[in-house]
Amino acid sequence: MSYTILTGDRATGLLHLGHYIGSLKLRVALQDDHQQSILIADLQGLTDNGHDPEKVSGNILNVMADYLAVGIDPAKTNICLQSGLPALSELTMYYANIVSISRLERNPTVKAEIANKSFGNSIPAGFFTYPISQAADITAFRADCVPVGDDQIPMIEQTNEIVRKINKIAGSDILVECEPLLSKVTRLPSVDGKAKMSKSLGNTITLSADEKEITAAVNKMYTDPNHLKVTDPGQIEGNVVFTYLDAFHPDEDLVQELKLHYIKGGLGDGKVKNILEECLQETLRPIREKRRKLINDKGMLLEILKHGTEKAVVETNKVLYDVKQAFGLNLFI
Ligand code: TRP
Repeated sequence: MSYTILTGDRATGLLHLGHYIGSLKLRVALQDDHQQSILIADLQGLTDNGHDPEKVSGNILNVMADYLAVGIDPAKTNICLQSGLPALSELTMYYANIVSISRLERNPTVKAEIANKSFGNSIPAGFFTYPISQAADITAFRADCVPVGDDQIPMIEQTNEIVRKINKIAGSDILVECEPLLSKVTRLPSVDGKAKMSKSLGNTITLSADEKEITAAVNKMYTDPNHLKVTDPGQIEGNVVFTYLDAFHPDEDLVQELKLHYIKGGLGDGKVKNILEECLQETLRPIREKRRKLINDKGMLLEILKHGTEKAVVETNKVLYDVKQAFGLNLFI
């Protein structure tokens, strides 16, 4: 079975190991057998960065370089830019008429994000309504599969509600319902063990991190605060070093042995960190080297993005046509 897949990132910063393990590896695996598009969601990035647009515009090519460096192949995966696809914004306007404010207020993802951010009484309208624009993205590509983290499941549900309403108005199935493809890997914690990973908190390892940054990040990684002496028995749960070993170390048996030894006592944090550091250096070295070459050729990155966006313009305009038709508004065609 071959899926039509849409994935995307907000592109408000450099991609990090959390993206790599949570979605990038999966996208690289999916691109051989499925029709996959990746949307650089710059407009969605602006929904909470309207005051700081450079954070979005300045990261578009960085994210492009990250994608290509990890092995996304533009010949297989169509990479495109949200702001270059007017059909997405138009669809958002049509869909906005069939979604209620109270439905938006109930969206658990947006609810949680609003609680985490310090918008106060000034929640941007664009942010509040971004589930509608995400539904526009997904439907415009006729995606039937959306690889997401579990935090994004409410977006899929809301998209499918919109699909059903539009299809009802149209009197036929002009839009496609989609299903989430959940990444099997549990969310990677930040270096300090806190849930939220961000460059500004300095608790992440970006794909472009140099050797020294990787060393420093592993050194300050959160372990078991009660594991004071090497001989003390240690705890694995919540121990970020082991979570990263689970996620990145190719030798599962070795990791299992280390865990048992650590639990029993007699294995120091320093030793485990050395093993992790070596593994992360090896994982990131080829990515960093490839990325360095790519980011030095901005013209080429831009060309790939332009080409992908042009292809997507054609695709998304067709869906816009169908939706306008459902509302009886293709007057000039
Ligand atoms: N919401 C996604 C994020 O937080 C980005 C995104 C925008 C997206 N449009 C999408 C993901 C469509 C999947 C499908 O990064």
